[in-house]
Amino acid sequence: MTTDSWNKRYATSKNLFGHSPNEFLVSYKRHLKPGMTALAIGDGEAQNGIWLARQGLDVTSVDNSQVAHETAKRHAKEAGVAMHIICSDILDYLSRGKKYDIIVHFFVHLPAPLKQDLHQKIINSLNPTGYVLFECFHKDQLHYGTGGPQDINMLYDEADIEREFSQLKIDTLQKSMTNVYEETRGSQPGVSLQFVGFNSRD
Ligand SMILES: C[S@@+](CC[C@H](N)C(=O)[O-])C[C@H]1O[C@@H](n2cnc3c(N)ncnc32)[C@H](O)[C@@H]1O
Repeated sequence: MTTDSWNKRYATSKNLFGHSPNEFLVSYKRHLKPGMTALAIGDGEAQNGIWLARQGLDVTSVDNSQVAHETAKRHAKEAGVAMHIICSDILDYLSRGKKYDIIVHFFVHLPAPLKQDLHQKIINSLNPTGYVLFECFHKDQLHYGTGGPQDINMLYDEADIEREFSQLKIDTLQKSMTNVYEETRGSQPGVSLQFVGFNSRD
């Protein structure tokens, strides 16, 4: 989807993907320590970034939709959390060379050539002990029709992750049934791929 299409979707809803943080992220709560630096890519209206900031992390939330960016700033203010909320293309942002303890990548589906570039930039942006928390639609999601891109090359399977994140140590890699929530459609079943990869550089 183009930035214009995302802007239109965000403009015609109140909270497009709801207020609740990603459940896979919440299940990792015990690994999160106050003061850690976290980057939330394609963070939309920032429900995940805000939740991370509430855990005491130093959060940067990046999305290139101007409409989501304004909503994210308003939500962070209402939540009373301080965080960096940046309106930028994620590939441009990651080219700045900043490093993070945690990078969260939830349901950001880029076209194939950009997707590979994104993965390498994420790996390069991890601190030596940093890790990636990832949940995106699995290729099997095409059979569900409950959300996500219809182009199989923008979706994921286990082999994609093993190949493209081979520089990381895989902690978790699992296909999972997930609740796909969208304001206009409510919760519907879908299938995702969840992944946690640690930087193995010393
Ligand atoms: C499906 S939404 C996911 C939002 C949020 N991560 C979540 O899980 O609810 C995908 C988000 O990625 C953003 N996005 C898509 N391409 C992007 C890019 N190249 N740079 C930054 N953000 C992008 C969109 O604007 C949108 O907010």
